[in-house]
Amino acid sequence: MALQQLESIQQDALAALEKVDHADSLENWRIEYLGRSSKLMGTFDQLGQLPKEDRPAIGRQANQVKQLLEKKLAEKEDLLQQEELQRSLETEQLDVTLPGRTLKIGRLHPITQTLRVIYQVFADMGFQVYQSPDVETDEFNFQLLNFPPHHPARDMQDSFYIEGDHDVDNPVLLRTHTSPGQIHAMREYSAGNPQDPPSIRIILPGMCYRHEQVNTRSESQFTQVEGLAVGKEITFSDLKGTLSDFNKRIFGMQVRSRFRASHFPFTEPSAEVDIECFVCGGQGCSVCKRTGWLEILGCGMVHPIVLQNGGYDPEIYTGFAFGIGPERIAMLRYRIEDIRYFWANDVRFLEQF
Ligand code: PHE
Repeated sequence: MALQQLESIQQDALAALEKVDHADSLENWRIEYLGRSSKLMGTFDQLGQLPKEDRPAIGRQANQVKQLLEKKLAEKEDLLQQEELQRSLETEQLDVTLPGRTLKIGRLHPITQTLRVIYQVFADMGFQVYQSPDVETDEFNFQLLNFPPHHPARDMQDSFYIEGDHDVDNPVLLRTHTSPGQIHAMREYSAGNPQDPPSIRIILPGMCYRHEQVNTRSESQFTQVEGLAVGKEITFSDLKGTLSDFNKRIFGMQVRSRFRASHFPFTEPSAEVDIECFVCGGQGCSVCKRTGWLEILGCGMVHPIVLQNGGYDPEIYTGFAFGIGPERIAMLRYRIEDIRYFWANDVRFLEQF
């Protein structure tokens, strides 16, 4: 009797399972046929009331039915999952076996990387970064830096002017160098204590713009890192030490630096700094154009008029300034032959760094 009951439980369960076509109804099926209050579980509870000799056979049979139903449940679960996958493949057109597209990982622009190396070297020497604007007036870009109107040194820095209702004597332009930041910084530092302004040790990085004939060596936009140190006992040997050390840290400890007399209206004396060619060791090669030296930057002692324009008394204060071209440094470090690559934004170039 009990065996027949088990038999019919099994038949009913399997027949019901056939009709299940969804995960939700499968769960209902599980509750009905394998749940705590199912008939099958009831037979286990009733075992104790059966005659002793019948119990093993019935017990064994009940277990077999239970195992069978559990196995069928698992199979049905798999099957429903497969069907669900198939359905979503057909309706959503998503091929889950297709490998994903790899994410392109971005990276820092080679000039940003070069700037960061430069910041690190100067940070080690106690220089802070000072920001100043890309758009300047003629006064800041030239006049306060001791370039009077019509001064021939302006020819080196042909400019992009900004249209507008500006003073004819003081047009607005994109800065041609980072040097106007010297004036902004000195004025800001001296404003706090005009009688005894604090000393200054800063670098001023940023983009500069010139109306250049664009070629492999000149671009209409490029970065510069200006440096400015002002204090009561700053000498030309501080300038030489700072920049020689900079060159060593960037190009290698054995590199020699050369200071060559030059002219900038806002420094006096002025110099251009070369390093011994690290490709040929000074022998002369195509990189250094057979001179044995590579031009790196311009520098000098801050001109007394510029100190004064910044609020620093040139009788008491001295200072040095320099202007580094990060594109030039990157070109030398990575042997890049055309400056136009930097801002052309061709990923085939950029992804090499
Ligand atoms: N501003 C100069 C230039 O752009 C470089 C420079 C900066 C020279 C500071 C001397 C001191 O050419």
